[in-house]
Amino acid sequence: MAIDYAERIPNNVSLAENRRLQRALEQWQPGFQSWWAEMGPVGFQARDVYLRTATSVDAQGWASFGYVRMPEYRWGIFLADAVHDRKVAFGDHKGEPVWQEVPGEYRGALRRLIVTQGDTEPASVEQQRHLGATSPSLYDLRNLLQVNVEEGRHLWAMAYLLHAYFGRDGREEADALLQRRSGSDDNPRILGAFNEQTPDWLSFLMFTFFTDRDGKYQLASLAESAFDPLSRTCRFMLTEEAHHMFVGETGIGRVVQRTCELMKEHDTDEVGRFGGIGLKLMQKYLNFHYSVSLDLFGAELSTNAANYFSMGLKGRFNEESRDDDHKLKETSYRITQVDENRIVQKDQPALLALNETLRDAYIADCARGVSRWNKVIKAAGIDFELRLPHRGFHRAIGDCASVKVTPEGRLITEAEWAAHHSHWLPTPEERVFVGSLMIGVTEPGRFAGWIAPPARGINHQALDFEYVKR
Ligand SMILES: [Fe+2]
Ligand SMILES: [Fe+2]
Repeated sequence: MAIDYAERIPNNVSLAENRRLQRALEQWQPGFQSWWAEMGPVGFQARDVYLRTATSVDAQGWASFGYVRMPEYRWGIFLADAVHDRKVAFGDHKGEPVWQEVPGEYRGALRRLIVTQGDTEPASVEQQRHLGATSPSLYDLRNLLQVNVEEGRHLWAMAYLLHAYFGRDGREEADALLQRRSGSDDNPRILGAFNEQTPDWLSFLMFTFFTDRDGKYQLASLAESAFDPLSRTCRFMLTEEAHHMFVGETGIGRVVQRTCELMKEHDTDEVGRFGGIGLKLMQKYLNFHYSVSLDLFGAELSTNAANYFSMGLKGRFNEESRDDDHKLKETSYRITQVDENRIVQKDQPALLALNETLRDAYIADCARGVSRWNKVIKAAGIDFELRLPHRGFHRAIGDCASVKVTPEGRLITEAEWAAHHSHWLPTPEERVFVGSLMIGVTEPGRFAGWIAPPARGINHQALDFEYVKR
């Protein structure tokens, strides 16, 4: 369905035909705008930024590119087209028609899922708000701001569902999404990784690779939902999310490439002196962002996850293409657990192990990206490999949260951890060093010395295109 841009709130959900909902969202809109003004990107709000805006939701050419000032970005409500005659693909309601309204008995659980997802969207904007001043190029600055406006749109997507389907408590939850603050002591965001700082561009690129990828897996499993409006919303969000992960994967790839160039030019691993980020230091950032992102999937065994699945609210990644009964009452799944101070593999009821099932899909996806970075290192003739640490390393949630695990997966004592963690995670001094490299570059076509230029520009534009105007 076409998007109506003549409306105050652009949408493809026939908002004009539902006056009550339209009015409720028009009341929420100023709150969103003041949240954006207060907590959105610092600076650049009055600049013309070369941004893409959704124009239709089909797979071909849904985006139009043009100069927009961020406060004038047309945030709105876009759902992917309905699938004709769609049926529930899993759980106790498998085979029944999908729902266009929320079943009363699942209301609380569904609202919680939507609020938890919705909370991450503004959180990441808040985490990234200071990065514009130190962007390594106009190309990168534009990508940051694109990610930010789209996370704002994802907030709209979840606020729409809350307003449209959850009555008064939905409206209250939509307001609360604008009130929590990333990193706040008294009103923090819901999930741990979204209260961490994103203080520099290396962190940002790692975040978009690892943490936005968690978003991909959460959205993909919500796209399987029997609650059809949630499914359609998430399907369209996934198309936007792909760009965020592209920013992370190509961004880290470019840092790797630049580091390899410096290593060869100066015949040393110690590229810090030459304004580069060494591969060992990059490994530490990777260890950090990967481990906090693994936590986002929750505990290995979870009755909540089992209930969400049986109720039909949240499926598995690629649920429909899986070759099993999609009910999982009799199936088992092998997971990693801590047992009497050893890390072991154990078969557990598959229904209880759904968090771990989703985490496994995520880990495999991360590994593919890391191997692409390693190809860059190998092509440069350098003998080094970036690695995903063991899944138990540096965890705050799940079985391994109670123990200390090395990146290789060996259980160690607290004392050993205290003596060695600075080999595995960035030290405060190293974070200061990375911060010291972050000097904003604003001349079109120029790039900071710690990152290589990308292979190509955005939307076929040249690398020296003025992605953000003065
Ligand atoms: Fe998002
Ligand atoms: Fe994202």
